[in-house]
Amino acid sequence: MGFIGSNFINFAVNLDQKFKIINIDKLTYAGNPENLKNIENKRSNNYKFYRADICDFKTINKIVTKEKVDYIINFAAETHVDRSIDNPSICCDTNIFGTQSLLNVTRKTNVQKYIQVSTDEVYGSLNFEGSPFTETSHLSPNNPYSASKASADLLVRAYFKTFDLPVNITRCSNNYGPYQFPEKLIPLIIHNALNDIPIPIYGQGINIRDWIYVADHCEGIFKVLISGKIGEIYNIGGDSELRNIDLVKNVLKSLNKPETLITFVKDRPGHDLRYAINYNKITKDLGWKPKTKLDDGLNWTIKWYLENQEWLKNVISKNYLKYYEKQYKNR
Ligand code: DAU
Repeated sequence: MGFIGSNFINFAVNLDQKFKIINIDKLTYAGNPENLKNIENKRSNNYKFYRADICDFKTINKIVTKEKVDYIINFAAETHVDRSIDNPSICCDTNIFGTQSLLNVTRKTNVQKYIQVSTDEVYGSLNFEGSPFTETSHLSPNNPYSASKASADLLVRAYFKTFDLPVNITRCSNNYGPYQFPEKLIPLIIHNALNDIPIPIYGQGINIRDWIYVADHCEGIFKVLISGKIGEIYNIGGDSELRNIDLVKNVLKSLNKPETLITFVKDRPGHDLRYAINYNKITKDLGWKPKTKLDDGLNWTIKWYLENQEWLKNVISKNYLKYYEKQYKNR
């Protein structure tokens, strides 16, 4: 019940075309049952939750067989770059071995398609002038998290080539929107600003990210699920490149908070300068493109966090605060 997975389920239950959704989650620090409480409360026949670890082949295989699952979409991941720098093993376990376990389940069952939800970080870093990455760009990951995601992508490719597994890989830009854990930049800015806590900006804040509103990303994944050609990779971009410092200033302005909250801290090791992806392929082949302008998406996101401050308070557990303090103490 992480950020993108929860948003996808909320999107999928509202589709005209009806699907039964089997949600499997280990519920780590970033997985929050609150994210799907509306659906859980409805006790609908079309939704079921199992608590399990994707690395546990036996259990997942049992669930997938029992529920006669047609499609697997792998949203499960340890996603935070800073955590992967602190402890590379956690992201290797879930992101690499977890993916392999799901690929094995796909092989052994009647699953018709497996989708690997990946990231633009696998392509590595662009300079300011570089052309956005395409699906055929080299993989050059620069941190343990992105290396684990690139490894998973290669396993997916290998299972397609070797075992004819029906797969797709999607690679997205930086997502933002409701239910994002406040260790990621946008909800972190909102959380800190609302509580008048300094906002740490790594280095000089000149790094560029391409931002995609999570609902647009969910639509893109759905298009790939239904119409993506087996074996293909699709970039899902947001068309919204912005320097971190400008993003922080925009959010502070919307919240009517002073720029003096901005605190420049030591840079993230191996910090990628710029991410940007070319998503022409999914537009041309599947008719998808992002609908949400960054300004609108940011306004909706800020509004959601303002209306859900209880949610925000609840996810900032003691453990998280400890991690957070340790992170910024030395920077
Ligand atoms: O590109 C997609 C990727 O986006 C996903 O694959 C990752 O799972 C996701 O974590 C995200 O990676 P980033 O490292 O780009 O996201 P993050 O929100 O951690 O940081 C965004 C930018 O803001 C990055 O340049 C680092 C900077 N930053 C981040 C934090 C948390 C700061 O300057 N200060 C901060 O406190």
